[in-house]
Amino acid sequence: MGDIIKLPPAKLKGTMSVEEALHARRSTREYATKALKLEDVSQLLWAAQGITAAKGLRTAPSPIAVYLVQAYLVAGNVDGLKPGVYSYKPQDHSLEMLKSGALEAQLGTLGQQVFSAAPALVVIASVDDKASKTFGDHAVRASSLEIGHVAENVALQATAMGLGLVTASGFDNGKARDILGLPASETPVYLIPVGRMV
Ligand SMILES: Cc1cc2nc3c(=O)[nH]c(=O)nc-3n(C[C@H](O)[C@H](O)[C@H](O)COP(=O)(O)O)c2cc1C
Repeated sequence: MGDIIKLPPAKLKGTMSVEEALHARRSTREYATKALKLEDVSQLLWAAQGITAAKGLRTAPSPIAVYLVQAYLVAGNVDGLKPGVYSYKPQDHSLEMLKSGALEAQLGTLGQQVFSAAPALVVIASVDDKASKTFGDHAVRASSLEIGHVAENVALQATAMGLGLVTASGFDNGKARDILGLPASETPVYLIPVGRMV
């Protein structure tokens, strides 16, 4: 098992309304070189997959609450985190290190400069074996819909925090899986680079 990092609790109050965040959200592909704080990534991961109710119900909906996604964080320049890939554990709002080391250069080979420019990326992966077992022929549709909800949560949360991000799916999924060190049963569908606005 890798290093476990307990994340600071997510805030339930911000300074921007949902309506203002919807109005302000924009894809952003350039970021300031400043580090993100642990509180920032904690809040973004909570928005993605945080547990908000008994029985483990989460911020984003899921068909029959089976949860078909796994969120990861790629930390490049995050205060309090060694560079590497971390698996987000909703149950105790923590991170577990999956792979150690800076990945900017390798992420750059995925064909979009933004992947190596960001201080962090939130990765949303589909848990394919679970989706196939539960939804058969509808597995891809079910997990894609759930992933869309998760990504929009992250986008609106980042906007409300004054951070910039882009929800990107234009890359080779298998190559990204290898670079990130994810299991063969999962597919990284969205890479979401995030950082402070320039
Ligand atoms: C499914 C999906 C995949 C996307 N993939 C990429 C991508 O690979 N790279 C990128 O820079 N933007 C990507 N985007 C962002 C779109 O280019 C962007 O949402 C669009 O230009 C509208 O701009 P806005 O997000 O600022 O409203 C993607 C958006 C969606 C919904």
